[in-house]
Amino acid sequence: MTIPSGYSIRKVQPHDYQSYTDTLKELTTVGKLRNEDFEKVCTYWASLPEIYHPMVIVNGGNSVVATGMLLVEQKIIHQCGHVGHIEDIAVAGTEQGKKLGMTMISELTRIAKAAGCYKVILDCSPHNVQFYEKCGYKESGVEMVKRFD
Ligand code: ACO
Repeated sequence: MTIPSGYSIRKVQPHDYQSYTDTLKELTTVGKLRNEDFEKVCTYWASLPEIYHPMVIVNGGNSVVATGMLLVEQKIIHQCGHVGHIEDIAVAGTEQGKKLGMTMISELTRIAKAAGCYKVILDCSPHNVQFYEKCGYKESGVEMVKRFD
């Protein structure tokens, strides 16, 4: 899938703090986060590049308008196979409906395939099922959770 005109896709960078956290608020609570906290996490992700693939779509002004993370898990099963996990997909409110979400999923899926994953999985709300189906994913299993709030 080609990225819509006027946008580009790249890895997150420490200077993305404001627009990255603003975009993530479309998904959930971000909490009180200082610029230095964000930079620390970016540095941590960058130190494990085979595992963490934190991608962003930016507009012409280099502001983040979409976020997405692929984690590549090394397993023992399936002959020491790899599984991709997609997390934290968010598109800025004013930018939704422009195929940026689908572009992000397409890119994370491409990275997972290139990394040798035998599958990619994600959890989502029922109201997003159709979006992921349009991205080529299908329902499988049930999500379970235990919270430590
Ligand atoms: N339900 C049904 N269809 C949808 C939905 C939805 N919730 N969202 C998008 N679509 C459809 C679009 O109409 C479009 O259809 P078309 O190809 O027939 O025209 C197609 O899916 C692609 O849509 P995009 O334009 O790529 O969607 P967008 O850029 O708006 O991103 C997203 C969708 C990521 C769900 C966005 O609305 C968003 O950020 N929502 C809030 C945060 C969120 O819920 N994120 C997902 C969390 S799950 C996770 O992180 C693993």
